[in-house]
Amino acid sequence: MMLSSYINTLFATSAIMSSLALGAADHWIVTQLQTLTISRMDPIVNPNDVSGHVHRVVGASNFNWHLNDPQTQLNAACSSTIIGDDKSNYWAPQLYYRHPNNTFTPVLGGVRVYYFNKNKDVQPFPPGLNMISGLAMKRDLTATQSLGIKISCDHGLQTQWLPNGTSHPGGCGSISMGIYFPSCGLANGATSSSDHFSHMAWPQSYDGPNLVDDPNGIVCPSSHPIKYPTIFAEFNYYLDADHPWRNDECTLVLSNGDCTGNNFHADFVNGWVPQTLKDAIAQCGYGKGPGDNLDACAPLKKTKSEPNSWECRLDGKIPDEEVGLWRPISQLPGCNPLWKNGVTQKPGCSSTPKPGYVFPNAYFENLKFRNKIPVALAELKDNADITTFIPSVGDTGAGRLGWWGSEGSNKNQLTKGNWQAIIDSLAPGTNPPAIGNMITLTTSQTEDEENTVETQDHEASADTDDGTQSEANTPPVLAADPPASESTTPATTAVEAEGAESTSAKYCKRKKRGLLPRAGDALSSHLSRRSRRRSIHGQQISVYVL
Ligand SMILES: *[C@@H]1O[C@H](CO)[C@@H](O)[C@H](O)[C@H]1NC(C)=O
Ligand SMILES: *[C@@H]1O[C@H](CO)[C@@H](O)[C@H](O)[C@H]1NC(C)=O
Repeated sequence: MMLSSYINTLFATSAIMSSLALGAADHWIVTQLQTLTISRMDPIVNPNDVSGHVHRVVGASNFNWHLNDPQTQLNAACSSTIIGDDKSNYWAPQLYYRHPNNTFTPVLGGVRVYYFNKNKDVQPFPPGLNMISGLAMKRDLTATQSLGIKISCDHGLQTQWLPNGTSHPGGCGSISMGIYFPSCGLANGATSSSDHFSHMAWPQSYDGPNLVDDPNGIVCPSSHPIKYPTIFAEFNYYLDADHPWRNDECTLVLSNGDCTGNNFHADFVNGWVPQTLKDAIAQCGYGKGPGDNLDACAPLKKTKSEPNSWECRLDGKIPDEEVGLWRPISQLPGCNPLWKNGVTQKPGCSSTPKPGYVFPNAYFENLKFRNKIPVALAELKDNADITTFIPSVGDTGAGRLGWWGSEGSNKNQLTKGNWQAIIDSLAPGTNPPAIGNMITLTTSQTEDEENTVETQDHEASADTDDGTQSEANTPPVLAADPPASESTTPATTAVEAEGAESTSAKYCKRKKRGLLPRAGDALSSHLSRRSRRRSIHGQQISVYVL
């Protein structure tokens, strides 16, 4: 079976499920966002420069060190979102894992972007509109810019805080770094402002008789009367066996050094094909939102393609520095010492080297999240360097390096990953199986979780006592598509948060006993909102040959 048709089948299944979800009518969700780059680039705040800290960027392939003019943005070769006509870019500080020896590795995951249309007068974004939500450099939770931050552990309660050892002593398997963007614009249609925020304002909702700012509110204040769609961008991250939860301070840290989450922020540049966004708002906007089921929205369905999103690569150059994908780094790129809780002022440095921009020579591929992230690694000289290197084999899937292709190439010139080779490389000595078959491998490494079908969960699932998972009837889901709630808003309930805690605790208990996580533990249980899969080391696994 072709990769794309297998995946499409999976997507159709999950889409049907989500269309049954309550309250989807006020939004659509752009899913499957593949990471274009993890690098110090920020064309809004630091144009023509390297940015102060590392961002994880998704969207249009022609993301650059300066903002593109709107027409150039639309001319991007591809989008790393599931909607080809969404040539926007979305970026946020990368979440890092701090190892016990004080080195740092980027945490991997997927991205979802919600578009809420909560009244009938929502207007499409003007071409070139760009904005920021959150405060990168100043710690002030009472500032209006901080209002949109919604961080959660295992899709539980949303706060402005990264989960930490005090708030989540039982640990977390997944961390959702969510943020709303302001959605009310000036009457003159301004697309930017010097602080990148004040041309926009929060919408409002009634709290009793009073209108109050509400990041997902319904009406706009008179100062900023134009209601645009409300964007909620969710950058999801997954811990794994190589990056296990620890209760120490600053186990999780944002690329700007922030250990609290208070300085989470995100940036957006509109690159929607204007007619598509207009049609989507008209046909799938207020009262007609399809949620995850984009096939139910003709304007979005028109250019919907998971394979295109996964294959979309960054065009052009990246800063010439390691960000931790190849091996852990000893400090966060830029001047970003740990910025702990209780410290108002961001700590500084005496000097900070500034890299130049270079064409990437290789990509870091993560099998589960479909990421092919460009890297510039002068130390890679020949094929042996590439093929022998497997930097991370954990519950979030194996990673590996591949050559990027000729310098400055667009996606059509790149060497594409060969899934057969990947499967073979994970199971040395296994005879090449027939395409389309499901095979069982015994491996000392990890499987491509995406393509895994349960083989030995019956015993394991009997051991889950939360009773919430139905093993047999749940289809596999897309790995890059995090297990977000399918409710009206991305917010989930305290009940869910509690459930997550207890499964996390189980995960940790098994970890302490030196056992691997199993179905019902944090990682597998959060993956199983819509499905159940396992990650297994040194055991039998089943994979589809694509
Ligand atoms: C620090 O720990 C990481 C994770 O275990 C390991 O990969 C790395 O080699 C260690 N670095 C040093 C300098 O010990
Ligand atoms: C942990 O998070 C809570 C909020 O969930 C916060 O009140 C507390 O100060 C944080 N502690 C540390 C050490 O960051």
